[in-house]
Amino acid sequence: MSLVNYELADGIATLTINRPEALNALNSQVLTDLSEVLDKVVADKARVVLLTGAGEKSFVAGADISEMASLTPREAQAFGELGNSVFRKLERLPVPTIAVINGFCLGGGNELAMSCDIRLASANALFGQPEVGLGITAGFGGTQRLARLIGVGLAKEILLTGRNIDAARALSIGLVNAVYEKEELLPAAQKMATDIVRKAPIAVRATKAALNLGIQTDIDSGIALEAVYFGSCFGSEDQIEGMTAFLEKRKPTPFQDK
Ligand code: HXC
Repeated sequence: MSLVNYELADGIATLTINRPEALNALNSQVLTDLSEVLDKVVADKARVVLLTGAGEKSFVAGADISEMASLTPREAQAFGELGNSVFRKLERLPVPTIAVINGFCLGGGNELAMSCDIRLASANALFGQPEVGLGITAGFGGTQRLARLIGVGLAKEILLTGRNIDAARALSIGLVNAVYEKEELLPAAQKMATDIVRKAPIAVRATKAALNLGIQTDIDSGIALEAVYFGSCFGSEDQIEGMTAFLEKRKPTPFQDK
């Protein structure tokens, strides 16, 4: 049985890491199951992904410490590489991904959230990279993505002290996009997902690709890339309908991904 539940409705794929008895800690099976579910997302042509954790307390409380405790250096590196390959697959998914952070978001959990495009959190969420307190470094991209997301100084503070931060601070430093009361989190995420589903899919995918590729390069190369993606939208049925509807002062008919 998969440890990652998958539901698809109205173009929105909801992925739920389902190990609540261990606060959804990431063991090898969760990582493998997540990878398989990401393949389904692509095969089913989902338009948006919501990624969350099962239960009341936790998004993901980190990589599974009981699985990692006795690893040799070589085995630990392989475990890190497995997680990194799955997180990179998530990050490179063609469609937008929203982490719905309903509680503990620690270590590998924070690294998983950072591999999504957008992070929405409940007011009781707790964030951190506690690895140095366990005698290890972050290992699923935390030393790389955190600095890119919130800046080097704050990333160093979080990674070097191992201190947790609450949702309000996570919001103030840009680690999350928005914070909601617990019961409002999922509806808010679903509304955001629905807003994205209603937009032109070709344009949404091109926007994500331009951002993801451009952020890794110099500004001139990034702008050149954007021009290519911008041009590639033209001539699509959705571009013609979107612009025609504007000029005719009416709402566009639903976009067709064509
Ligand atoms: C394995 C975990 C776990 C984890 C929680 N559990 N986190 N098991 N790995 N990361 C298990 C507990 O052992 C316990 O199982 C059950 O979940 C409930 O947890 P409690 O500790 O009883 O809950 P609570 O008292 O509410 O404390 C919650 C918590 C604490 C503060 C989140 O569980 C905690 O500190 N967890 C570890 C957080 C962490 O250090 N994460 C980073 C891991 S390193 P039992 O069987 O006792 O009920 C990492 C590296 C990534 O992520 C890179 C790898 C390459």
